[in-house]
Amino acid sequence: MSEAASQSALSNLLHETRRFDPPADLAANAIATKATYDEASSDRLAFWEKQAKRLTWAKPWDQVLDWSNAPFSKWFVGGQINAAVNCLDRHVEAGHGDKVAYHWEGEPGDTRTITYADLTKMVCQAANALTEIGVQAGDRVMIYMPMIPETVVAMLACARLGAPHSVVFGGFSAEALAGRTLDCDAKLIITADGGYRRGAPSALKPAVDQACKECPQVEHVLVVRRTGQDVEWNEGRDLWWHDVVEKQSTTHEAQAFDAEQPLYIMYTSGTTAKPKGILHTTGGYLTGVSATHKMVFDLHEDTDVYWCAADIGWVTGHSYIVYGPLANLTTSVMYEGTPDTPARDRWWSMVDKYKVSILYTAPTTIRTFMKWGEEFPAQHEMSSLRLLGSVGEPINPEAWMWYRRVIGHDRCPIVDTWWQTETGMIMITPLPGVTSTKPGAAMTAFPGVSADVVDNDGKPVGNGEGGYMVITEPWPAMLRGIWGDDERYRQTYWSRFDGLYFAGDGAKKDEDGDYWLLGRVDDVMNISGHRISTTEVEHAIVGHPKVAEAAVVGASDPTTGQAIVAFVTVKGNVPDDESQGHAFADELRAHVAKEIGPIAKPRDILITPDLPKTRSGKIMRRLLRDVAEHRQLGDTTTLLDPGVVSSIAEKMPAGAAEE
Ligand code: PRX
Repeated sequence: MSEAASQSALSNLLHETRRFDPPADLAANAIATKATYDEASSDRLAFWEKQAKRLTWAKPWDQVLDWSNAPFSKWFVGGQINAAVNCLDRHVEAGHGDKVAYHWEGEPGDTRTITYADLTKMVCQAANALTEIGVQAGDRVMIYMPMIPETVVAMLACARLGAPHSVVFGGFSAEALAGRTLDCDAKLIITADGGYRRGAPSALKPAVDQACKECPQVEHVLVVRRTGQDVEWNEGRDLWWHDVVEKQSTTHEAQAFDAEQPLYIMYTSGTTAKPKGILHTTGGYLTGVSATHKMVFDLHEDTDVYWCAADIGWVTGHSYIVYGPLANLTTSVMYEGTPDTPARDRWWSMVDKYKVSILYTAPTTIRTFMKWGEEFPAQHEMSSLRLLGSVGEPINPEAWMWYRRVIGHDRCPIVDTWWQTETGMIMITPLPGVTSTKPGAAMTAFPGVSADVVDNDGKPVGNGEGGYMVITEPWPAMLRGIWGDDERYRQTYWSRFDGLYFAGDGAKKDEDGDYWLLGRVDDVMNISGHRISTTEVEHAIVGHPKVAEAAVVGASDPTTGQAIVAFVTVKGNVPDDESQGHAFADELRAHVAKEIGPIAKPRDILITPDLPKTRSGKIMRRLLRDVAEHRQLGDTTTLLDPGVVSSIAEKMPAGAAEE
């Protein structure tokens, strides 16, 4: 967020006086209480140790935390554990085999009810199949899948074998998949023929085929048949899931791994064009996600039906559709498709059908529902809901209030949860039985998490002041590094402030000392809760043969939070009539979709003869953000040619950005 925008956001927040106390019945029965905070603050490591003991370990640890090699941490040192066994086998052994793990619903309306016993068998079969294919502990496996149960099965089969998975969101392009597959040197890609989205099958396998051309190390592609569409077949390399998995034994002897065994790598955008492979390991991660899932969502596993409506291709899906919920013996709802297929009340009909009691989604989705209108949720009772969660971007108070009133019927508390791919688990959040919430505030650090807001020099700011969000002590689900790049890990997160984890977010402490997250302060954009780097998009655009230079900024957008705006200069002649300009902009959008994925397509592309530059040749992105958000232009005196920016401002489409 630009400085001017965050200043005005700050002053608005200062006037927020609404408070919502926890409902008395929820507070009376809450999993986490005020005592939980006291316990964690009196002995943070003992608190985490207690959370770790909720899991089943093959061998106990000798030491809770080893921080001697900071910023590289080790948790539960010497302990041995298997993540899949903790999510599955131990529940079945304890007599919960018949409990539903997932009520899965495909977009066309097909459904599957999968119990813990079913899921355990499916994962054992898949683990046996992967072993037969040659996957061993430590091997990396790519997963490029739609939202179907086999995606969870594939992840857990990898976890069972100690083979770290790297799930790539199905909306990413072949190029993006190839880059990630090469970076972690994976030999197997698990995919599907396609999935259903917006009422039609959409293909995945062609992107895998294309990616494989750049990844000669890939030995096999394991393909789940979901849509039945025709796929090209590469004999010898490609294998059908139903051929190799379903014939396997439904039992598999799991081995326990070191607590620090890599569990997964999740690629996320940083401030350079190359995505970072965020590494998570097993024991600390599972401890962190299961504890937060249990307490933040006040999960009573006997009675709750929980629905995290994220995609498994993002960290939210990893931590709060798969690992946290399954470790906690949760009954979850999982949905394949889009919320407006076949009609705009799809989610609300599912809430009633499955009696969902806890719903977790993103502000961008809430704002889309607001735009569609109250009549869609109003067609359904939704009396089963008792708790609502938000994640992915700052939630504006209007969306928060709408969520509370229209979806939560003024009855359900809202937990606005701040965290990141890197943090692995929820870090700043209300606890629903304890915290009096404020519309738009993530409020306080989770018990056992030490956070602060600091100024430019790393000094904690006072109440009522803004600064940078930092984490001051290691936490169990923290990233263990960037795959293959220790130096980048240090540089990115630990060099800005001495000894503090710098999250890249601006934040404020209000008069009560509660936290408000204000958006990124680096070159990372947040588009509909998806992290995309300006540099990555610039890099893609500049890769187009007709483009000379590009500057990309994130501009605020009423629905998607931020939207991508690109300023582009071309080689040779500028397309001079409007239709030529439009056609070229569309060509560039398609190019970005091919390079990164459709989520990275710019909302606005301005073709301009020049970009505003300082005398030393640096592009002034700050001014371009002012242009993109229709603000008064800031200081232009350092520009080589101040006329450039005003001529660009004249071309910026009116009303594209939030007023
Ligand atoms: O800017 C913050 C924003 O999303 C970033 C992390 O993105 P990602 O790693 O993709 O993970 C998203 C889901 C955990 C953060 O740096 N963010 C996430 N949650 C919130 C948020 N900003 C404000 N409020 C939140 N609740």
